[in-house]
Amino acid sequence: MSQAPAPITVPHHVAIIMDGNGRWAKSRGLPRIEGHRRGVETVRTTTFAARDLGVKMLTLYAFSVENWKRPQDEVGGLMSLLEYYLQKELDTFIRDRVRLRTIGRTHELPAGVQKVLRTTIEATAHFTDCTLVLALNYGSRTEVVDAARAYAAAVAAGKEKLNDNSYASFSRYLSTADLPDPDLVIRTSGETRISNFLLLQAAYAEFVFTPTLWPDFTKADLASAIAEYNRRERRFGLTSEQLKSSAATK
Ligand code: FPP
Repeated sequence: MSQAPAPITVPHHVAIIMDGNGRWAKSRGLPRIEGHRRGVETVRTTTFAARDLGVKMLTLYAFSVENWKRPQDEVGGLMSLLEYYLQKELDTFIRDRVRLRTIGRTHELPAGVQKVLRTTIEATAHFTDCTLVLALNYGSRTEVVDAARAYAAAVAAGKEKLNDNSYASFSRYLSTADLPDPDLVIRTSGETRISNFLLLQAAYAEFVFTPTLWPDFTKADLASAIAEYNRRERRFGLTSEQLKSSAATK
């Protein structure tokens, strides 16, 4: 008798480094911004694909602190696309009960982007089924510096004790304070770097690298990354035997 296949474990939180928009455009003789435009479509399809597959939280690395160094017209184009995307997507977020959150120094983004972010975040704050987190003007090192500064100020104000210096207490000052750590981090386009993304939070995440360029990324690619995640053994520092015996006693 053949055994039933083991049920798939869907990672609660998937984070994606969306890469390859520029190469996608270049290979078609198009300007880079066209790659980003197609990338926005993939943001939309992936958000709903994640929800359909049972992922509760999706974090997308949309603009890093280093991305400001790109040509000015590309940065301006990305900001316009972001504003347009948020305006266009609000009704869909509400219809499909998607909560929007951000991480990163969003107060440094253009005023128009900040305004539409505020509107969308407020309008979707009460949804609990599915959360889309956009990492905007985000970089882990900057985040850690900001958190260390806030933590030091809290110690000086007597709100934190210096000898209670666990990661749990420090992590309350990160921009991800109320978000669970990612279980699965995916990077598209064949690059195998982490690029200053969720360095602390991804400490125990599984990584999947796919050669697919971000504009070509589909629900099937996401499902395949989840299948790969299911082939991994997450040990969190324990031995394989310890994990098996704790699973057997459950
Ligand atoms: C990397 O591709 C992608 C980015 C730097 C930005 C990602 C942005 C989007 C998908 C569109 C805007 C996002 C939202 C949420 C509206 P790359 O330009 O580095 O590609 P390359 O390595 O092939 O040049």
